[in-house]
Amino acid sequence: MSLNRRRFLQSAAAVAAVPGLPSPDALAATAPFELIAGVFKQQVRETGAASGVWGYNLQVPGPVLRFKQGEEATFLLRNRLPQATTIHWHGIRVPNEMDGVPNVTQVAIAPDTDFTYKYRLPDSGTYWYHPHQSSFEQVPRGLYGALIVEEARPVPVDREVLWVLSDFKLGPENQQVEDFGRVTDFGSGGRLGNVIAINGKAAGAQQRLELRPNERVRLRLINASSARILALDFTGHQPWVLSLDGQGVPPRPLKGQLILGGGQRTDLILDGSAGSGQFEVWDRRDKGARIATIAYAGSPVRAKVLGAPPAIPPNRLTTPNLQRASRHYLAFEGGVLGMPAIGMVDGKPQDVKSIMEQHGLSWTMNYTAQHEHALMHEPLFRFRKGEHVVIRMINRTDFEHPMHMHGHFFQVVAINNKPVKERVWRDTVVMAPRQDMDIALVADNVGEWMFHCHILDHAAGGMMGTVLVE
Ligand code: C2O
Ligand code: CU
Repeated sequence: MSLNRRRFLQSAAAVAAVPGLPSPDALAATAPFELIAGVFKQQVRETGAASGVWGYNLQVPGPVLRFKQGEEATFLLRNRLPQATTIHWHGIRVPNEMDGVPNVTQVAIAPDTDFTYKYRLPDSGTYWYHPHQSSFEQVPRGLYGALIVEEARPVPVDREVLWVLSDFKLGPENQQVEDFGRVTDFGSGGRLGNVIAINGKAAGAQQRLELRPNERVRLRLINASSARILALDFTGHQPWVLSLDGQGVPPRPLKGQLILGGGQRTDLILDGSAGSGQFEVWDRRDKGARIATIAYAGSPVRAKVLGAPPAIPPNRLTTPNLQRASRHYLAFEGGVLGMPAIGMVDGKPQDVKSIMEQHGLSWTMNYTAQHEHALMHEPLFRFRKGEHVVIRMINRTDFEHPMHMHGHFFQVVAINNKPVKERVWRDTVVMAPRQDMDIALVADNVGEWMFHCHILDHAAGGMMGTVLVE
């Protein structure tokens, strides 16, 4: 494969037909749900002008797509954007050709053309959808939405609340600053907005959730930010953690802040543990920001706070067997702080920096002189269908990276070589700076799957590769 492939993967506006890949309109549609990607205005800030945004069906976030586990979903994506686009169904174990990755699983959908996505929903949980074409621009402009798959027997609650969290970088007159794709964002913490939003509206004063005392609420949280990692603090509350990335966990009280990296989801149960009155919800990262208020009023739903909620019935995922797993390594280098001038690769010094500059990269994954994995000339890994694998991710950078694998769930089994006792399923996990993390999975979904950082600027800057399951 040539360097062109990397350029395609990185984003670009390329819409060239790729032989063997489904092309737009190649699939027949039966009663599809229409998702129209377009340009419009939305009131993001409470005051002042409406902001120019890109989104689905004239709303940011796009419509909530809600299904029952096992159902088949059909979507007709109509691209009315000035750029080519695709939709990726984050976390859904779709067949490879429905995964929405331009030039890997399909041809990007050119402006004014349509494409039909059709697949079965094997797993219950909280998921989301967003473009995989120029995602560092298309996602922060507003192209994202929730996809919720109900369990056969949902956990009984009085109410469900969905918060799609994101941020917008708004300039004068509340318009989006069009500085997408800056090298400085690619090589640092990513492009951060200056307005955190909940369900497409600025966080803060206008975000008020009114609940009744002792009401049991399932709060589904999705971090749809292109770069921002959130540290949520539900002051006064003792929420239960119900699921992570759509997969049920034994319900347990949330300890401290809820870290939610880009792409990650968490379902919480709020039970009226706060009592009565008003409580603030904060994002504690950086300087911190009050993002919402939860206010209790009215007659209590029940006399007492309920106890632990029941667990969500687990999805059918095969637990990796570490004894028989094959072992693989993925080292990350780069970033404006961490970029080594000379890196030791395969025991030999390499001028990593100049190689990266030459290829316009801010980051590399497994750079070796022999195998230019980092340049995406070939998949990072090739697995046999059903192979049990452990991948040691080695973060040689001074940045956090929410790493996401398509088409599979994995378990974090060790951190800095120390086994993790409680193993949970994830599709996106935040690696701390300079951390080693072992993830394990059964590669049972055939196809070529993206494995990338969900700081979308990092993905575009080199932290994006594929895993081939055959
Ligand atoms: Cu939500 Cu490849 O991403
Ligand atoms: Cu990253």
